Amino acid sequence: MADFEMRQISKKFGNVHALEKANFSANKGDIMGLLGENGAGKSTLVKVLCGVEKEDEGEVLLFGKKMLRRTPKEAMAEGVRVVHQELSLVSNATVSENLFMTEEEKPYRRKTIKELNKKAEALFKKFGVEDIDCTQYVRELPLAKCQKVEILKALAFEFDILVLDEATSALTEKDVEWLFELIRKLSKEGKIIIFISHRLQEINSICEQITIFRNGTSVCEAKKDELDTDQMVTLMLGRKIAGYYPEKAHSRKEEVLLHVENLRNGELTGVSFELHAGEILGIGGLSGQGQSELFEVLYGAKGAEGKIEIKGKECRLRSTASALKRGIALIPEDRGKQGLVLPMSVKENITLASLGKIRKGIFLSALKESQSVKKMIEKLQIKTDTPEVQVVTLSGGNQQKVVLAKQLLAEPDILLMYDITRGVDVGTKREMFNLMQEHCQEGKAILFFSTDTEELVHMCDSIYVMFEGRFKAHLQGDSMTEENIIRVSVGEAAV
Ligand SMILES: Nc1ncnc2c1ncn2[C@@H]1O[C@H](COP(=O)(O)OP(=O)(O)OP(=O)(O)O)[C@@H](O)[C@H]1O
Ligand SMILES: [Mg+2]
Repeated sequence: MADFEMRQISKKFGNVHALEKANFSANKGDIMGLLGENGAGKSTLVKVLCGVEKEDEGEVLLFGKKMLRRTPKEAMAEGVRVVHQELSLVSNATVSENLFMTEEEKPYRRKTIKELNKKAEALFKKFGVEDIDCTQYVRELPLAKCQKVEILKALAFEFDILVLDEATSALTEKDVEWLFELIRKLSKEGKIIIFISHRLQEINSICEQITIFRNGTSVCEAKKDELDTDQMVTLMLGRKIAGYYPEKAHSRKEEVLLHVENLRNGELTGVSFELHAGEILGIGGLSGQGQSELFEVLYGAKGAEGKIEIKGKECRLRSTASALKRGIALIPEDRGKQGLVLPMSVKENITLASLGKIRKGIFLSALKESQSVKKMIEKLQIKTDTPEVQVVTLSGGNQQKVVLAKQLLAEPDILLMYDITRGVDVGTKREMFNLMQEHCQEGKAILFFSTDTEELVHMCDSIYVMFEGRFKAHLQGDSMTEENIIRVSVGEAAV
């Protein structure tokens, strides 16, 4: 018998079998990779383990003893710590407060805050964290740092099992290294680590054992060396895919859709470029080098000096509404906060940005609406029981697909895509890339930021690499390599 076992776990939500007689086991010191396509049941398994959801059937044993997990607090006391896929930090509290806050504790008094800061500093020291100020408010932190704080929050108390559910999806490369070193250390101390990621490279580099989920159940348990990446993908999807990237099918036209000259504000320094019809223009670099600011400026959410011309006409983008009116749409970084209205249905979310297009007279054309929604759900293989369910009940990757569907349906001339494949499985990524090409084949254009260098090289016509708020290099033709993107990202010259 293994040290940790989840046996025959089933969980239904309405008609959806999120888990069906799923098994999972691990031993002390194991670094387990948990893989599966979007909606396969990974997060639900984790939620069952940590007492957020109650299984319909099955049992969980740790060191031969049945675990109760009646509440998340009880699960924590039984030795389970989880970094959830969706961030859970309170933005109006400081980092220290977030690290040690528990639900029943009311706002802290001054003295307590001092103590908390001390505790936080000790924690940071223990885990080698130097780039976060524990007195800062979480709302001021970029997404990558928030994710790091989430991880530290899980480490703040004792545990036997640590689950990282997509915890690297927003981390910088440097922080991924930091985390991996930490995971190796924890494994040596005999902790059980469960690592969930759609980045197979990460799974390959950190995990020793692999469990693959498909449709709510485990379809494979193996040592990492027994499987290569293609086999993993085939097991995840239940089918083979024809390559991870489509053949190039779009072409850059003469017409300039967007002309940007010398953009500058606190974070940007002299950014100039042209985006042509039919083009996918890549933006690379480590995150936090001005990319999100650039996207915000182009989306009218932030101001900057300089010139912006859309289809030859100079304009001021004073608000997101004015950007939208001029045909610029954004697929944002944080789908929960910016991309979706979580309590609304999948259908409402998808049509939200294109109400004008679907509107007939003053009434929405119900038929047109459901046809468009159905088409998008099929194209992107959005796993949802019906289009009427609340988008918040979808798995993380499927929520991301809804954001994409919403913007594609609105058919903007210029689509700003900010790391859209974060948390998306390989099969769907391929589908997203096809849709990007279709979009450009229609004479529209995409500005595409990605933290995945391979993706940039395969999908873009050319790539600007950002470093400290400026365009440091323009990689084209043969110089468009992953190596060059990385070199320029860290301040070196391309070769
Ligand atoms: N609270 C809920 N209500 C209804 N359905 C739910 C709920 N939570 C999960 N589901 C459904 O259960 C299935 C499994 O979801 P889960 O979040 O476990 O997938 P996942 O493997 O973590 O996917 P991803 O890689 O996208 O994060 C999905 O079809 C999802 O829509
Ligand atoms: Mg998940």
